[in-house]
Amino acid sequence: MTSEVRLLLAPMEGVVDWVMRDTLSQIGGVDQFVTEFLRVTDKLHPEAVIYRNCPELKTQSRTRHGVPVFVQLLGGQAEPLAANAERAVKLGALGIDLNFGCPAKSVNRHDGGATLLKSSERLYSIVKTVRTAISPEIPVTAKIRLGFDDPGVCIENAQAITEGGASCLTVHCRTKSDGYRPPAYWDWIPRIRESTAIPIVANGEIWNPSDFDRCREVSGCHQFMIGRGAMSNPYIFKQIREHLALGLDQGPSQNSSVYKSWQQTKTLLPGFFEASSLHINEYFAVSRTKQWLRALSLKNSEAKEIFDRLKILRKPLEFRAELETFCANQKTIA
Ligand SMILES: Cc1cc2nc3c(=O)[nH]c(=O)nc-3n(C[C@H](O)[C@H](O)[C@H](O)COP(=O)(O)O)c2cc1C
Repeated sequence: MTSEVRLLLAPMEGVVDWVMRDTLSQIGGVDQFVTEFLRVTDKLHPEAVIYRNCPELKTQSRTRHGVPVFVQLLGGQAEPLAANAERAVKLGALGIDLNFGCPAKSVNRHDGGATLLKSSERLYSIVKTVRTAISPEIPVTAKIRLGFDDPGVCIENAQAITEGGASCLTVHCRTKSDGYRPPAYWDWIPRIRESTAIPIVANGEIWNPSDFDRCREVSGCHQFMIGRGAMSNPYIFKQIREHLALGLDQGPSQNSSVYKSWQQTKTLLPGFFEASSLHINEYFAVSRTKQWLRALSLKNSEAKEIFDRLKILRKPLEFRAELETFCANQKTIA
């Protein structure tokens, strides 16, 4: 039972770059990653741009801990998407994911992301063109929202994506108009599963093992994608696995070691800062570490205290010194 569950980290542009993927794969429990979206207009991206989106291409499209990473493309024109997919595969991508869910106005205005959910024909044509362009053993997957404003289109859209040749479909169970407002409507998934043959990955509002249980029960899925829940608790994947191993009827094991996740996460923050500095620069590292601390603050009061202390610091040297004091040396706030 446990072995058939697959857990994926949600792609999050501006949040989950390779440093975050590397950090989470070090913690463990994730079966697959997807890059932040790479926007495709009418151009073929230079190889350097594709490598920047997915540095793991240089290591067989896997993180240092061996977890596969798919390259996500976003756009509305089938041919350029196919050409960029072909190039990513040539550089070593293990799979291509197509983003049909992005709600950003700037993206939708330029005919990409969730706006494509208004036309199942276009979804079909994009998936089919990309599928045809790359070698059959490389999976093409897709990620949708339930619809642009009408969730009812999800069945037809899922069928079009299946007919186009996608091998797996992630459903973020909200419409574009719903934004990120809870709840996620997992109850659409059984209807999608009934009408399509490919595996469905359930996504939206999984913040802890109890949410996972409910999502699993309602959706009937075996695959789950978690986004913001993993930023506020990077041990969530391990917690879910431990929860599964203990048996679903026992509920989350509050005393288990994985519940000490904040203490463990704290020790990873200085390394995260260093890796982000090396990846881009120290100012970037300050901003990404603050961003992660803010997300961690949602679930932990000590994280919030540290965030409140560090959020005002702008100079990298000062920020790093304080971070190390609070995190690496386990010093508590006076
Ligand atoms: C900051 C942010 C950036 C996101 N970027 C992407 C992206 O690049 N590609 C994508 O398919 N979805 C993106 N998403 C959507 C997430 O992958 C996911 O579908 C959504 O957050 C719902 O899952 P959650 O409730 O577990 O967070 C993004 C979401 C957030 C909050």
